[in-house]
Amino acid sequence: METKILLYLVAGVLFILSLAGLSSAKTAVRGNRYGILGMLIAVVTTLAFSMHSWQSALLIYGTIAAGAIIGTAIAKRIDMTALPQLMAGFHSLVGLAAVCVAFAAFYSPTAFGIGTPGHINKFSLLEMSLGAFIGAMTFTGSFIAFMKLQGLMSAKPIRFAGQHLFNGALGVAIAVMTILFTFIQTGDVLTIITLCAAILGVLLILPIGGADMPVVVSMLNSYSGWAAAGIGFTLQNMLLIITGALVGASGAILSYIMCKAMNRSFFNVILGGLGEDEATNADGATEERAVKAGSAEDAAFLMEQAGSVIIVPGYGMAVAQAQHIIRELVDILKSKDVKVKFAIHPVAGRMPGHMNVLLAEANIPYEDVFELEDINSDFSSTDVALVIGANDVTNPAARTDTASPIYGMPILDVDKAKTILFVKRSMGVGYAGIQNELFFNPKTMMLFGDAKKVSEEIVKAFEMM
Ligand code: TAP
Repeated sequence: METKILLYLVAGVLFILSLAGLSSAKTAVRGNRYGILGMLIAVVTTLAFSMHSWQSALLIYGTIAAGAIIGTAIAKRIDMTALPQLMAGFHSLVGLAAVCVAFAAFYSPTAFGIGTPGHINKFSLLEMSLGAFIGAMTFTGSFIAFMKLQGLMSAKPIRFAGQHLFNGALGVAIAVMTILFTFIQTGDVLTIITLCAAILGVLLILPIGGADMPVVVSMLNSYSGWAAAGIGFTLQNMLLIITGALVGASGAILSYIMCKAMNRSFFNVILGGLGEDEATNADGATEERAVKAGSAEDAAFLMEQAGSVIIVPGYGMAVAQAQHIIRELVDILKSKDVKVKFAIHPVAGRMPGHMNVLLAEANIPYEDVFELEDINSDFSSTDVALVIGANDVTNPAARTDTASPIYGMPILDVDKAKTILFVKRSMGVGYAGIQNELFFNPKTMMLFGDAKKVSEEIVKAFEMM
């Protein structure tokens, strides 16, 4: 038993080291390795120290094998840009697992060592109802987030009159039912708690608009951690409690950091847009106004003349997988004594750290990559801002248009550069579905085309010079 606890402790420490490693791009690979090692120790220890009949062993190992095969197949096929919906989909399964464990514990209390049917101890009943509550809410909430992110339903906020009052009433009903459940311990009450929580999960995510979805995915990640911790109490598994709490706390901290980066109220987002202004101008229509379009040769000429260039990558760079050719472009610019820096917005792309991962993949030196707060003051003294597949993170409407869904989000001050080059395929909108006035700015030149193709053409234009 001591060996098991010791090994669990080692796994727990490795998970903490993993989180610490993931806090910086330089140490992220090491952090991932700690996480993998910790999980390996956790799974092997749990299996090695449990007694199984051959039937249950068959069930356990069969289920693990099926899950591993399905998980690997999905992870191999998925594009990096679809990771948020993959995460949302997988979080929903963690929620469902928590619900299943709560019901299993209620109907087979002896197997869990928490009493006999009808005589389960009160503390375990409370854990069960909390596990079912958080689990069901995570399950349906993550499912709605998946549907929105995958484009299977509208990303726009869906609200109805009195929604917050209704949510509040559901919350109160769940609290009352939970107290009742610890006294009368019937399966019907647990089912009602689960159903109410499932409805609450849907209602909390429906009013959240596209622009806030990154925070929601991270918040659901946190919920799934707390659900896992809840299962840990029911299963009396110390490591599951530690791991669940780590996921829950780190997810909550990440959500808070993202809310700060987007100037959103943390509580508004987790309470389903409570107190948000109903007005939105999320009008995806593109306008028929004149813009200045240029060629790769024009861009190469402008950058050759420049003393400094700041590159702003966004979602389009990820889609086009343009990071490698951009690395070549950076090498050319540096060989011509042009100072080059990268400006990263905290929510550029579709997941936290998305741009950092891609730039690291292309071996772009970390010292050339700057976060928003460290680089924003440099734009005003920069000759060229080269925006590659980014849109919302540069949109000045975030500063000026109070009706805009991104109003209040800090943006990269691209508009302060002397010349702005936008590489994108069309006048199309970004994730938030709003027009970007910067395209019509007299300092802007649009370079229409796929990010990889246009970057290749710019590199070719430099070679021809
Ligand atoms: P977006 O505002 O989404 O703009 C991306 C732009 O890339 C689009 O306007 C699109 O224009 C262009 N594009 C797409 N494919 C391209 C290609 N192959 N080549 C060239 N351009 C291409 O991206 P952003 O500026 O990175 O901002 C991120 C947005 O996503 C924010 O609104 C953020 O809230 C949201 N979001 C972020 C996350 C996280 S955590 N990072 C998660 C979910 C959502 P064209 O169609 O004209 O080419």
